[in-house]
Amino acid sequence: MSVTFSRAERVDAMQSSSTMAATQAAARLRAAGHDVVDLGAGEPDFTTPENIREAAKRALDSGKTKYTPAAGTAELKNAIIGYIERETGTKYEPSQVIVSAGGKQVLFNGITTLINPADEVIIPAPYWVTFPEIVTFCGGKSVFVDTESNGFQLTAKMVADAVTPKTKLIIVNSPSNPSGRIMAPEEFRAVAELVAERGLWMISDECYYRFTYPPYQPLSAASLPAELRERVLISGSFSKTYAMTGWRIGYALAHRDWVTEMSKVQSHSTSNPTSFAQWGAVEAAQGDQSSIDGMLAEYQKRRDWLIPALNEIPGVSCAMPEGAFYAFPSIKGVLAKASVKTDSEFSDLLLNEAHVVVTPGSAFGMPGYLRISYANSLEAIQRGVDRMRQVIEKVTR
Ligand SMILES: Cc1ncc(COP(=O)(O)O)c(C=O)c1O
Repeated sequence: MSVTFSRAERVDAMQSSSTMAATQAAARLRAAGHDVVDLGAGEPDFTTPENIREAAKRALDSGKTKYTPAAGTAELKNAIIGYIERETGTKYEPSQVIVSAGGKQVLFNGITTLINPADEVIIPAPYWVTFPEIVTFCGGKSVFVDTESNGFQLTAKMVADAVTPKTKLIIVNSPSNPSGRIMAPEEFRAVAELVAERGLWMISDECYYRFTYPPYQPLSAASLPAELRERVLISGSFSKTYAMTGWRIGYALAHRDWVTEMSKVQSHSTSNPTSFAQWGAVEAAQGDQSSIDGMLAEYQKRRDWLIPALNEIPGVSCAMPEGAFYAFPSIKGVLAKASVKTDSEFSDLLLNEAHVVVTPGSAFGMPGYLRISYANSLEAIQRGVDRMRQVIEKVTR
């Protein structure tokens, strides 16, 4: 007898994560013995720095293996507060901080505690895939603001034009996954002013905050004046900054009532993030920060090779990313001439014929583009681009 599962309506429109699907496709090909070049994963190829690993080992050995407060330990909250104060000069209170299982859980808690059915959420496109999925889960409506004509640079005017009486939240992500763009500081502030004026709320996803390339400077909502900060939830993560993706530690800094509601949800879902991972994160926030400079220098070296190489391929054009570790080239010039007509078809072809994993731009609400992660060795990136060039030559011949 076969049973049909009757899923809840709230997950009807939810899609599986396309970036995770790309990673799984790469794993399948690798298991089948193929030499796969993975430029799909949004995951640092570095090992978590030793001081952080040692701190977690010490925590394990000293029995820090029990439940902690659901919203995170006092020690980690204080370490995060100290880190943000050193970075931005702003001191948050422990009641304004929650530690969660990665930035993803922060965003899930943050959006589910704010959005009612039919509320509108403004999301600049291209966007990180998870934002609209959580909004959909809440029964909310994502209102996308297309930034392509402005080189993926969001302006307050674009946001103002999208506001309706139903708007409740705007989500910004700078540096952006996938475009690598950093918001202009004056536009960032103008968006926060608009949010305050209209009584809206804002989520600033700052998980790539430390990965900005000179001359660009890290930009955080924590540096905004207090009256603007009040309506902004900062979503931070240890995943990318300290190469700690598997540890699952992220945090929010927000209005204390928002944090209270998020803590309530978390206390009935996952409870605390893993106890000894939190102790590793204490060391990450308080200890030697020089590993970040080393990783950033390496990303920059790869970026500086990758972008000119992409621009040399006929039909491909790519702006220089200002932060994060993604290139976001347009392949519209290729698709216009090729036997494949969409970015998804092209990505599939690249995967199946050349065993190179990239993510189609349409997954980020921007068809005609590809997201290429350079969180992989320069040698792998060079092999990947070489194979991509060959596939493009073949399909446009
Ligand atoms: C823009 C953005 N926000 C949040 C996250 C979540 O990261 P984590 O849950 O590992 O902290 C990611 C991960 O790819 C991301 O790219």
